[in-house]
Amino acid sequence: MLVLGFEDYCEAGQRLAKELGVTYAEVEVHRFPDGEHRITLPALLPERVIVCRSLFEPNEKLIDLLLLAGTARELGVKQLVLVAPYLCYMRQDKAFHPGESVSQRIVGKLLANHFDALITVDPHMHRTPNLAAAVPVGQALNLSAAVPIAGYLQGLPARPLLVGPDEESRQWVQAIAALTGLNYIIGEKRRSGDRNIEIALPEADVAGQDVVLIDDIISTGCTLARAAEHLLSLGARNVRCIATHILPNGGAAKELAKAGVVELLSTDSIQHPSNRIFLASLLAEAVHTIDWTDI
Ligand code: R5P
Repeated sequence: MLVLGFEDYCEAGQRLAKELGVTYAEVEVHRFPDGEHRITLPALLPERVIVCRSLFEPNEKLIDLLLLAGTARELGVKQLVLVAPYLCYMRQDKAFHPGESVSQRIVGKLLANHFDALITVDPHMHRTPNLAAAVPVGQALNLSAAVPIAGYLQGLPARPLLVGPDEESRQWVQAIAALTGLNYIIGEKRRSGDRNIEIALPEADVAGQDVVLIDDIISTGCTLARAAEHLLSLGARNVRCIATHILPNGGAAKELAKAGVVELLSTDSIQHPSNRIFLASLLAEAVHTIDWTDI
């Protein structure tokens, strides 16, 4: 087995290879002046290859993956597994207006046509019943970052109150609370625009508490910033934020600092300065559960 990675996500790819005890090799991507890509793989590949890449800002990366998969097959690879800790195009899961593309379904099929198995972490799927319904590969493994996040929290000296900003965050907050024994509350979110958000919180004794806000994804940071402001106005001693995925291009770090958040932490599903929680061992465990006879 071999892990193939890309320069933009090489450290995480190397961590995965190390955890699996296998070799890591990097795909070389040449960008022609017209924007087309040429990729080069090691000429000698084993029959079983794991491709590791975060699919944030996905369009060019998807083309690379298609080129990679086609080339790998030509070079004799029989089992090709995609490890995409951040999976793209999961949010557009229905046509909200007539004529809109249902990107989740279309991109999901595209990936399934080229890979035999998929491993991802906390994909943003609120209406799709399971990962295989979005990406119909032979084996689709949907992991939760709750365990590594809980592990991180258990290493802290304080016992914070966990807060989810909205109902959608409940599944992660509840899972982390169950693993750590920490108390939690869940707020209610009203969104009237990308950056217009109001958060209501239930009655709870927040005064003097260390608080950790938990969400699956941070984009503009407005959801957690409004929640943090509310918590601080109720007397919280300090507020930290932890998310599985932080999108680096939404200005979240600034927004959260402005709101008084003392620390922003994320997993390495997308490379970001706030990465403190590493997914390699979770991903490697999932690779070990793949039934290779079935793909
Ligand atoms: C929504 O369903 C998600 O769980 C996040 O709360 C949301 O995507 C965060 O977006 P933003 O950081 O832009 O408020």
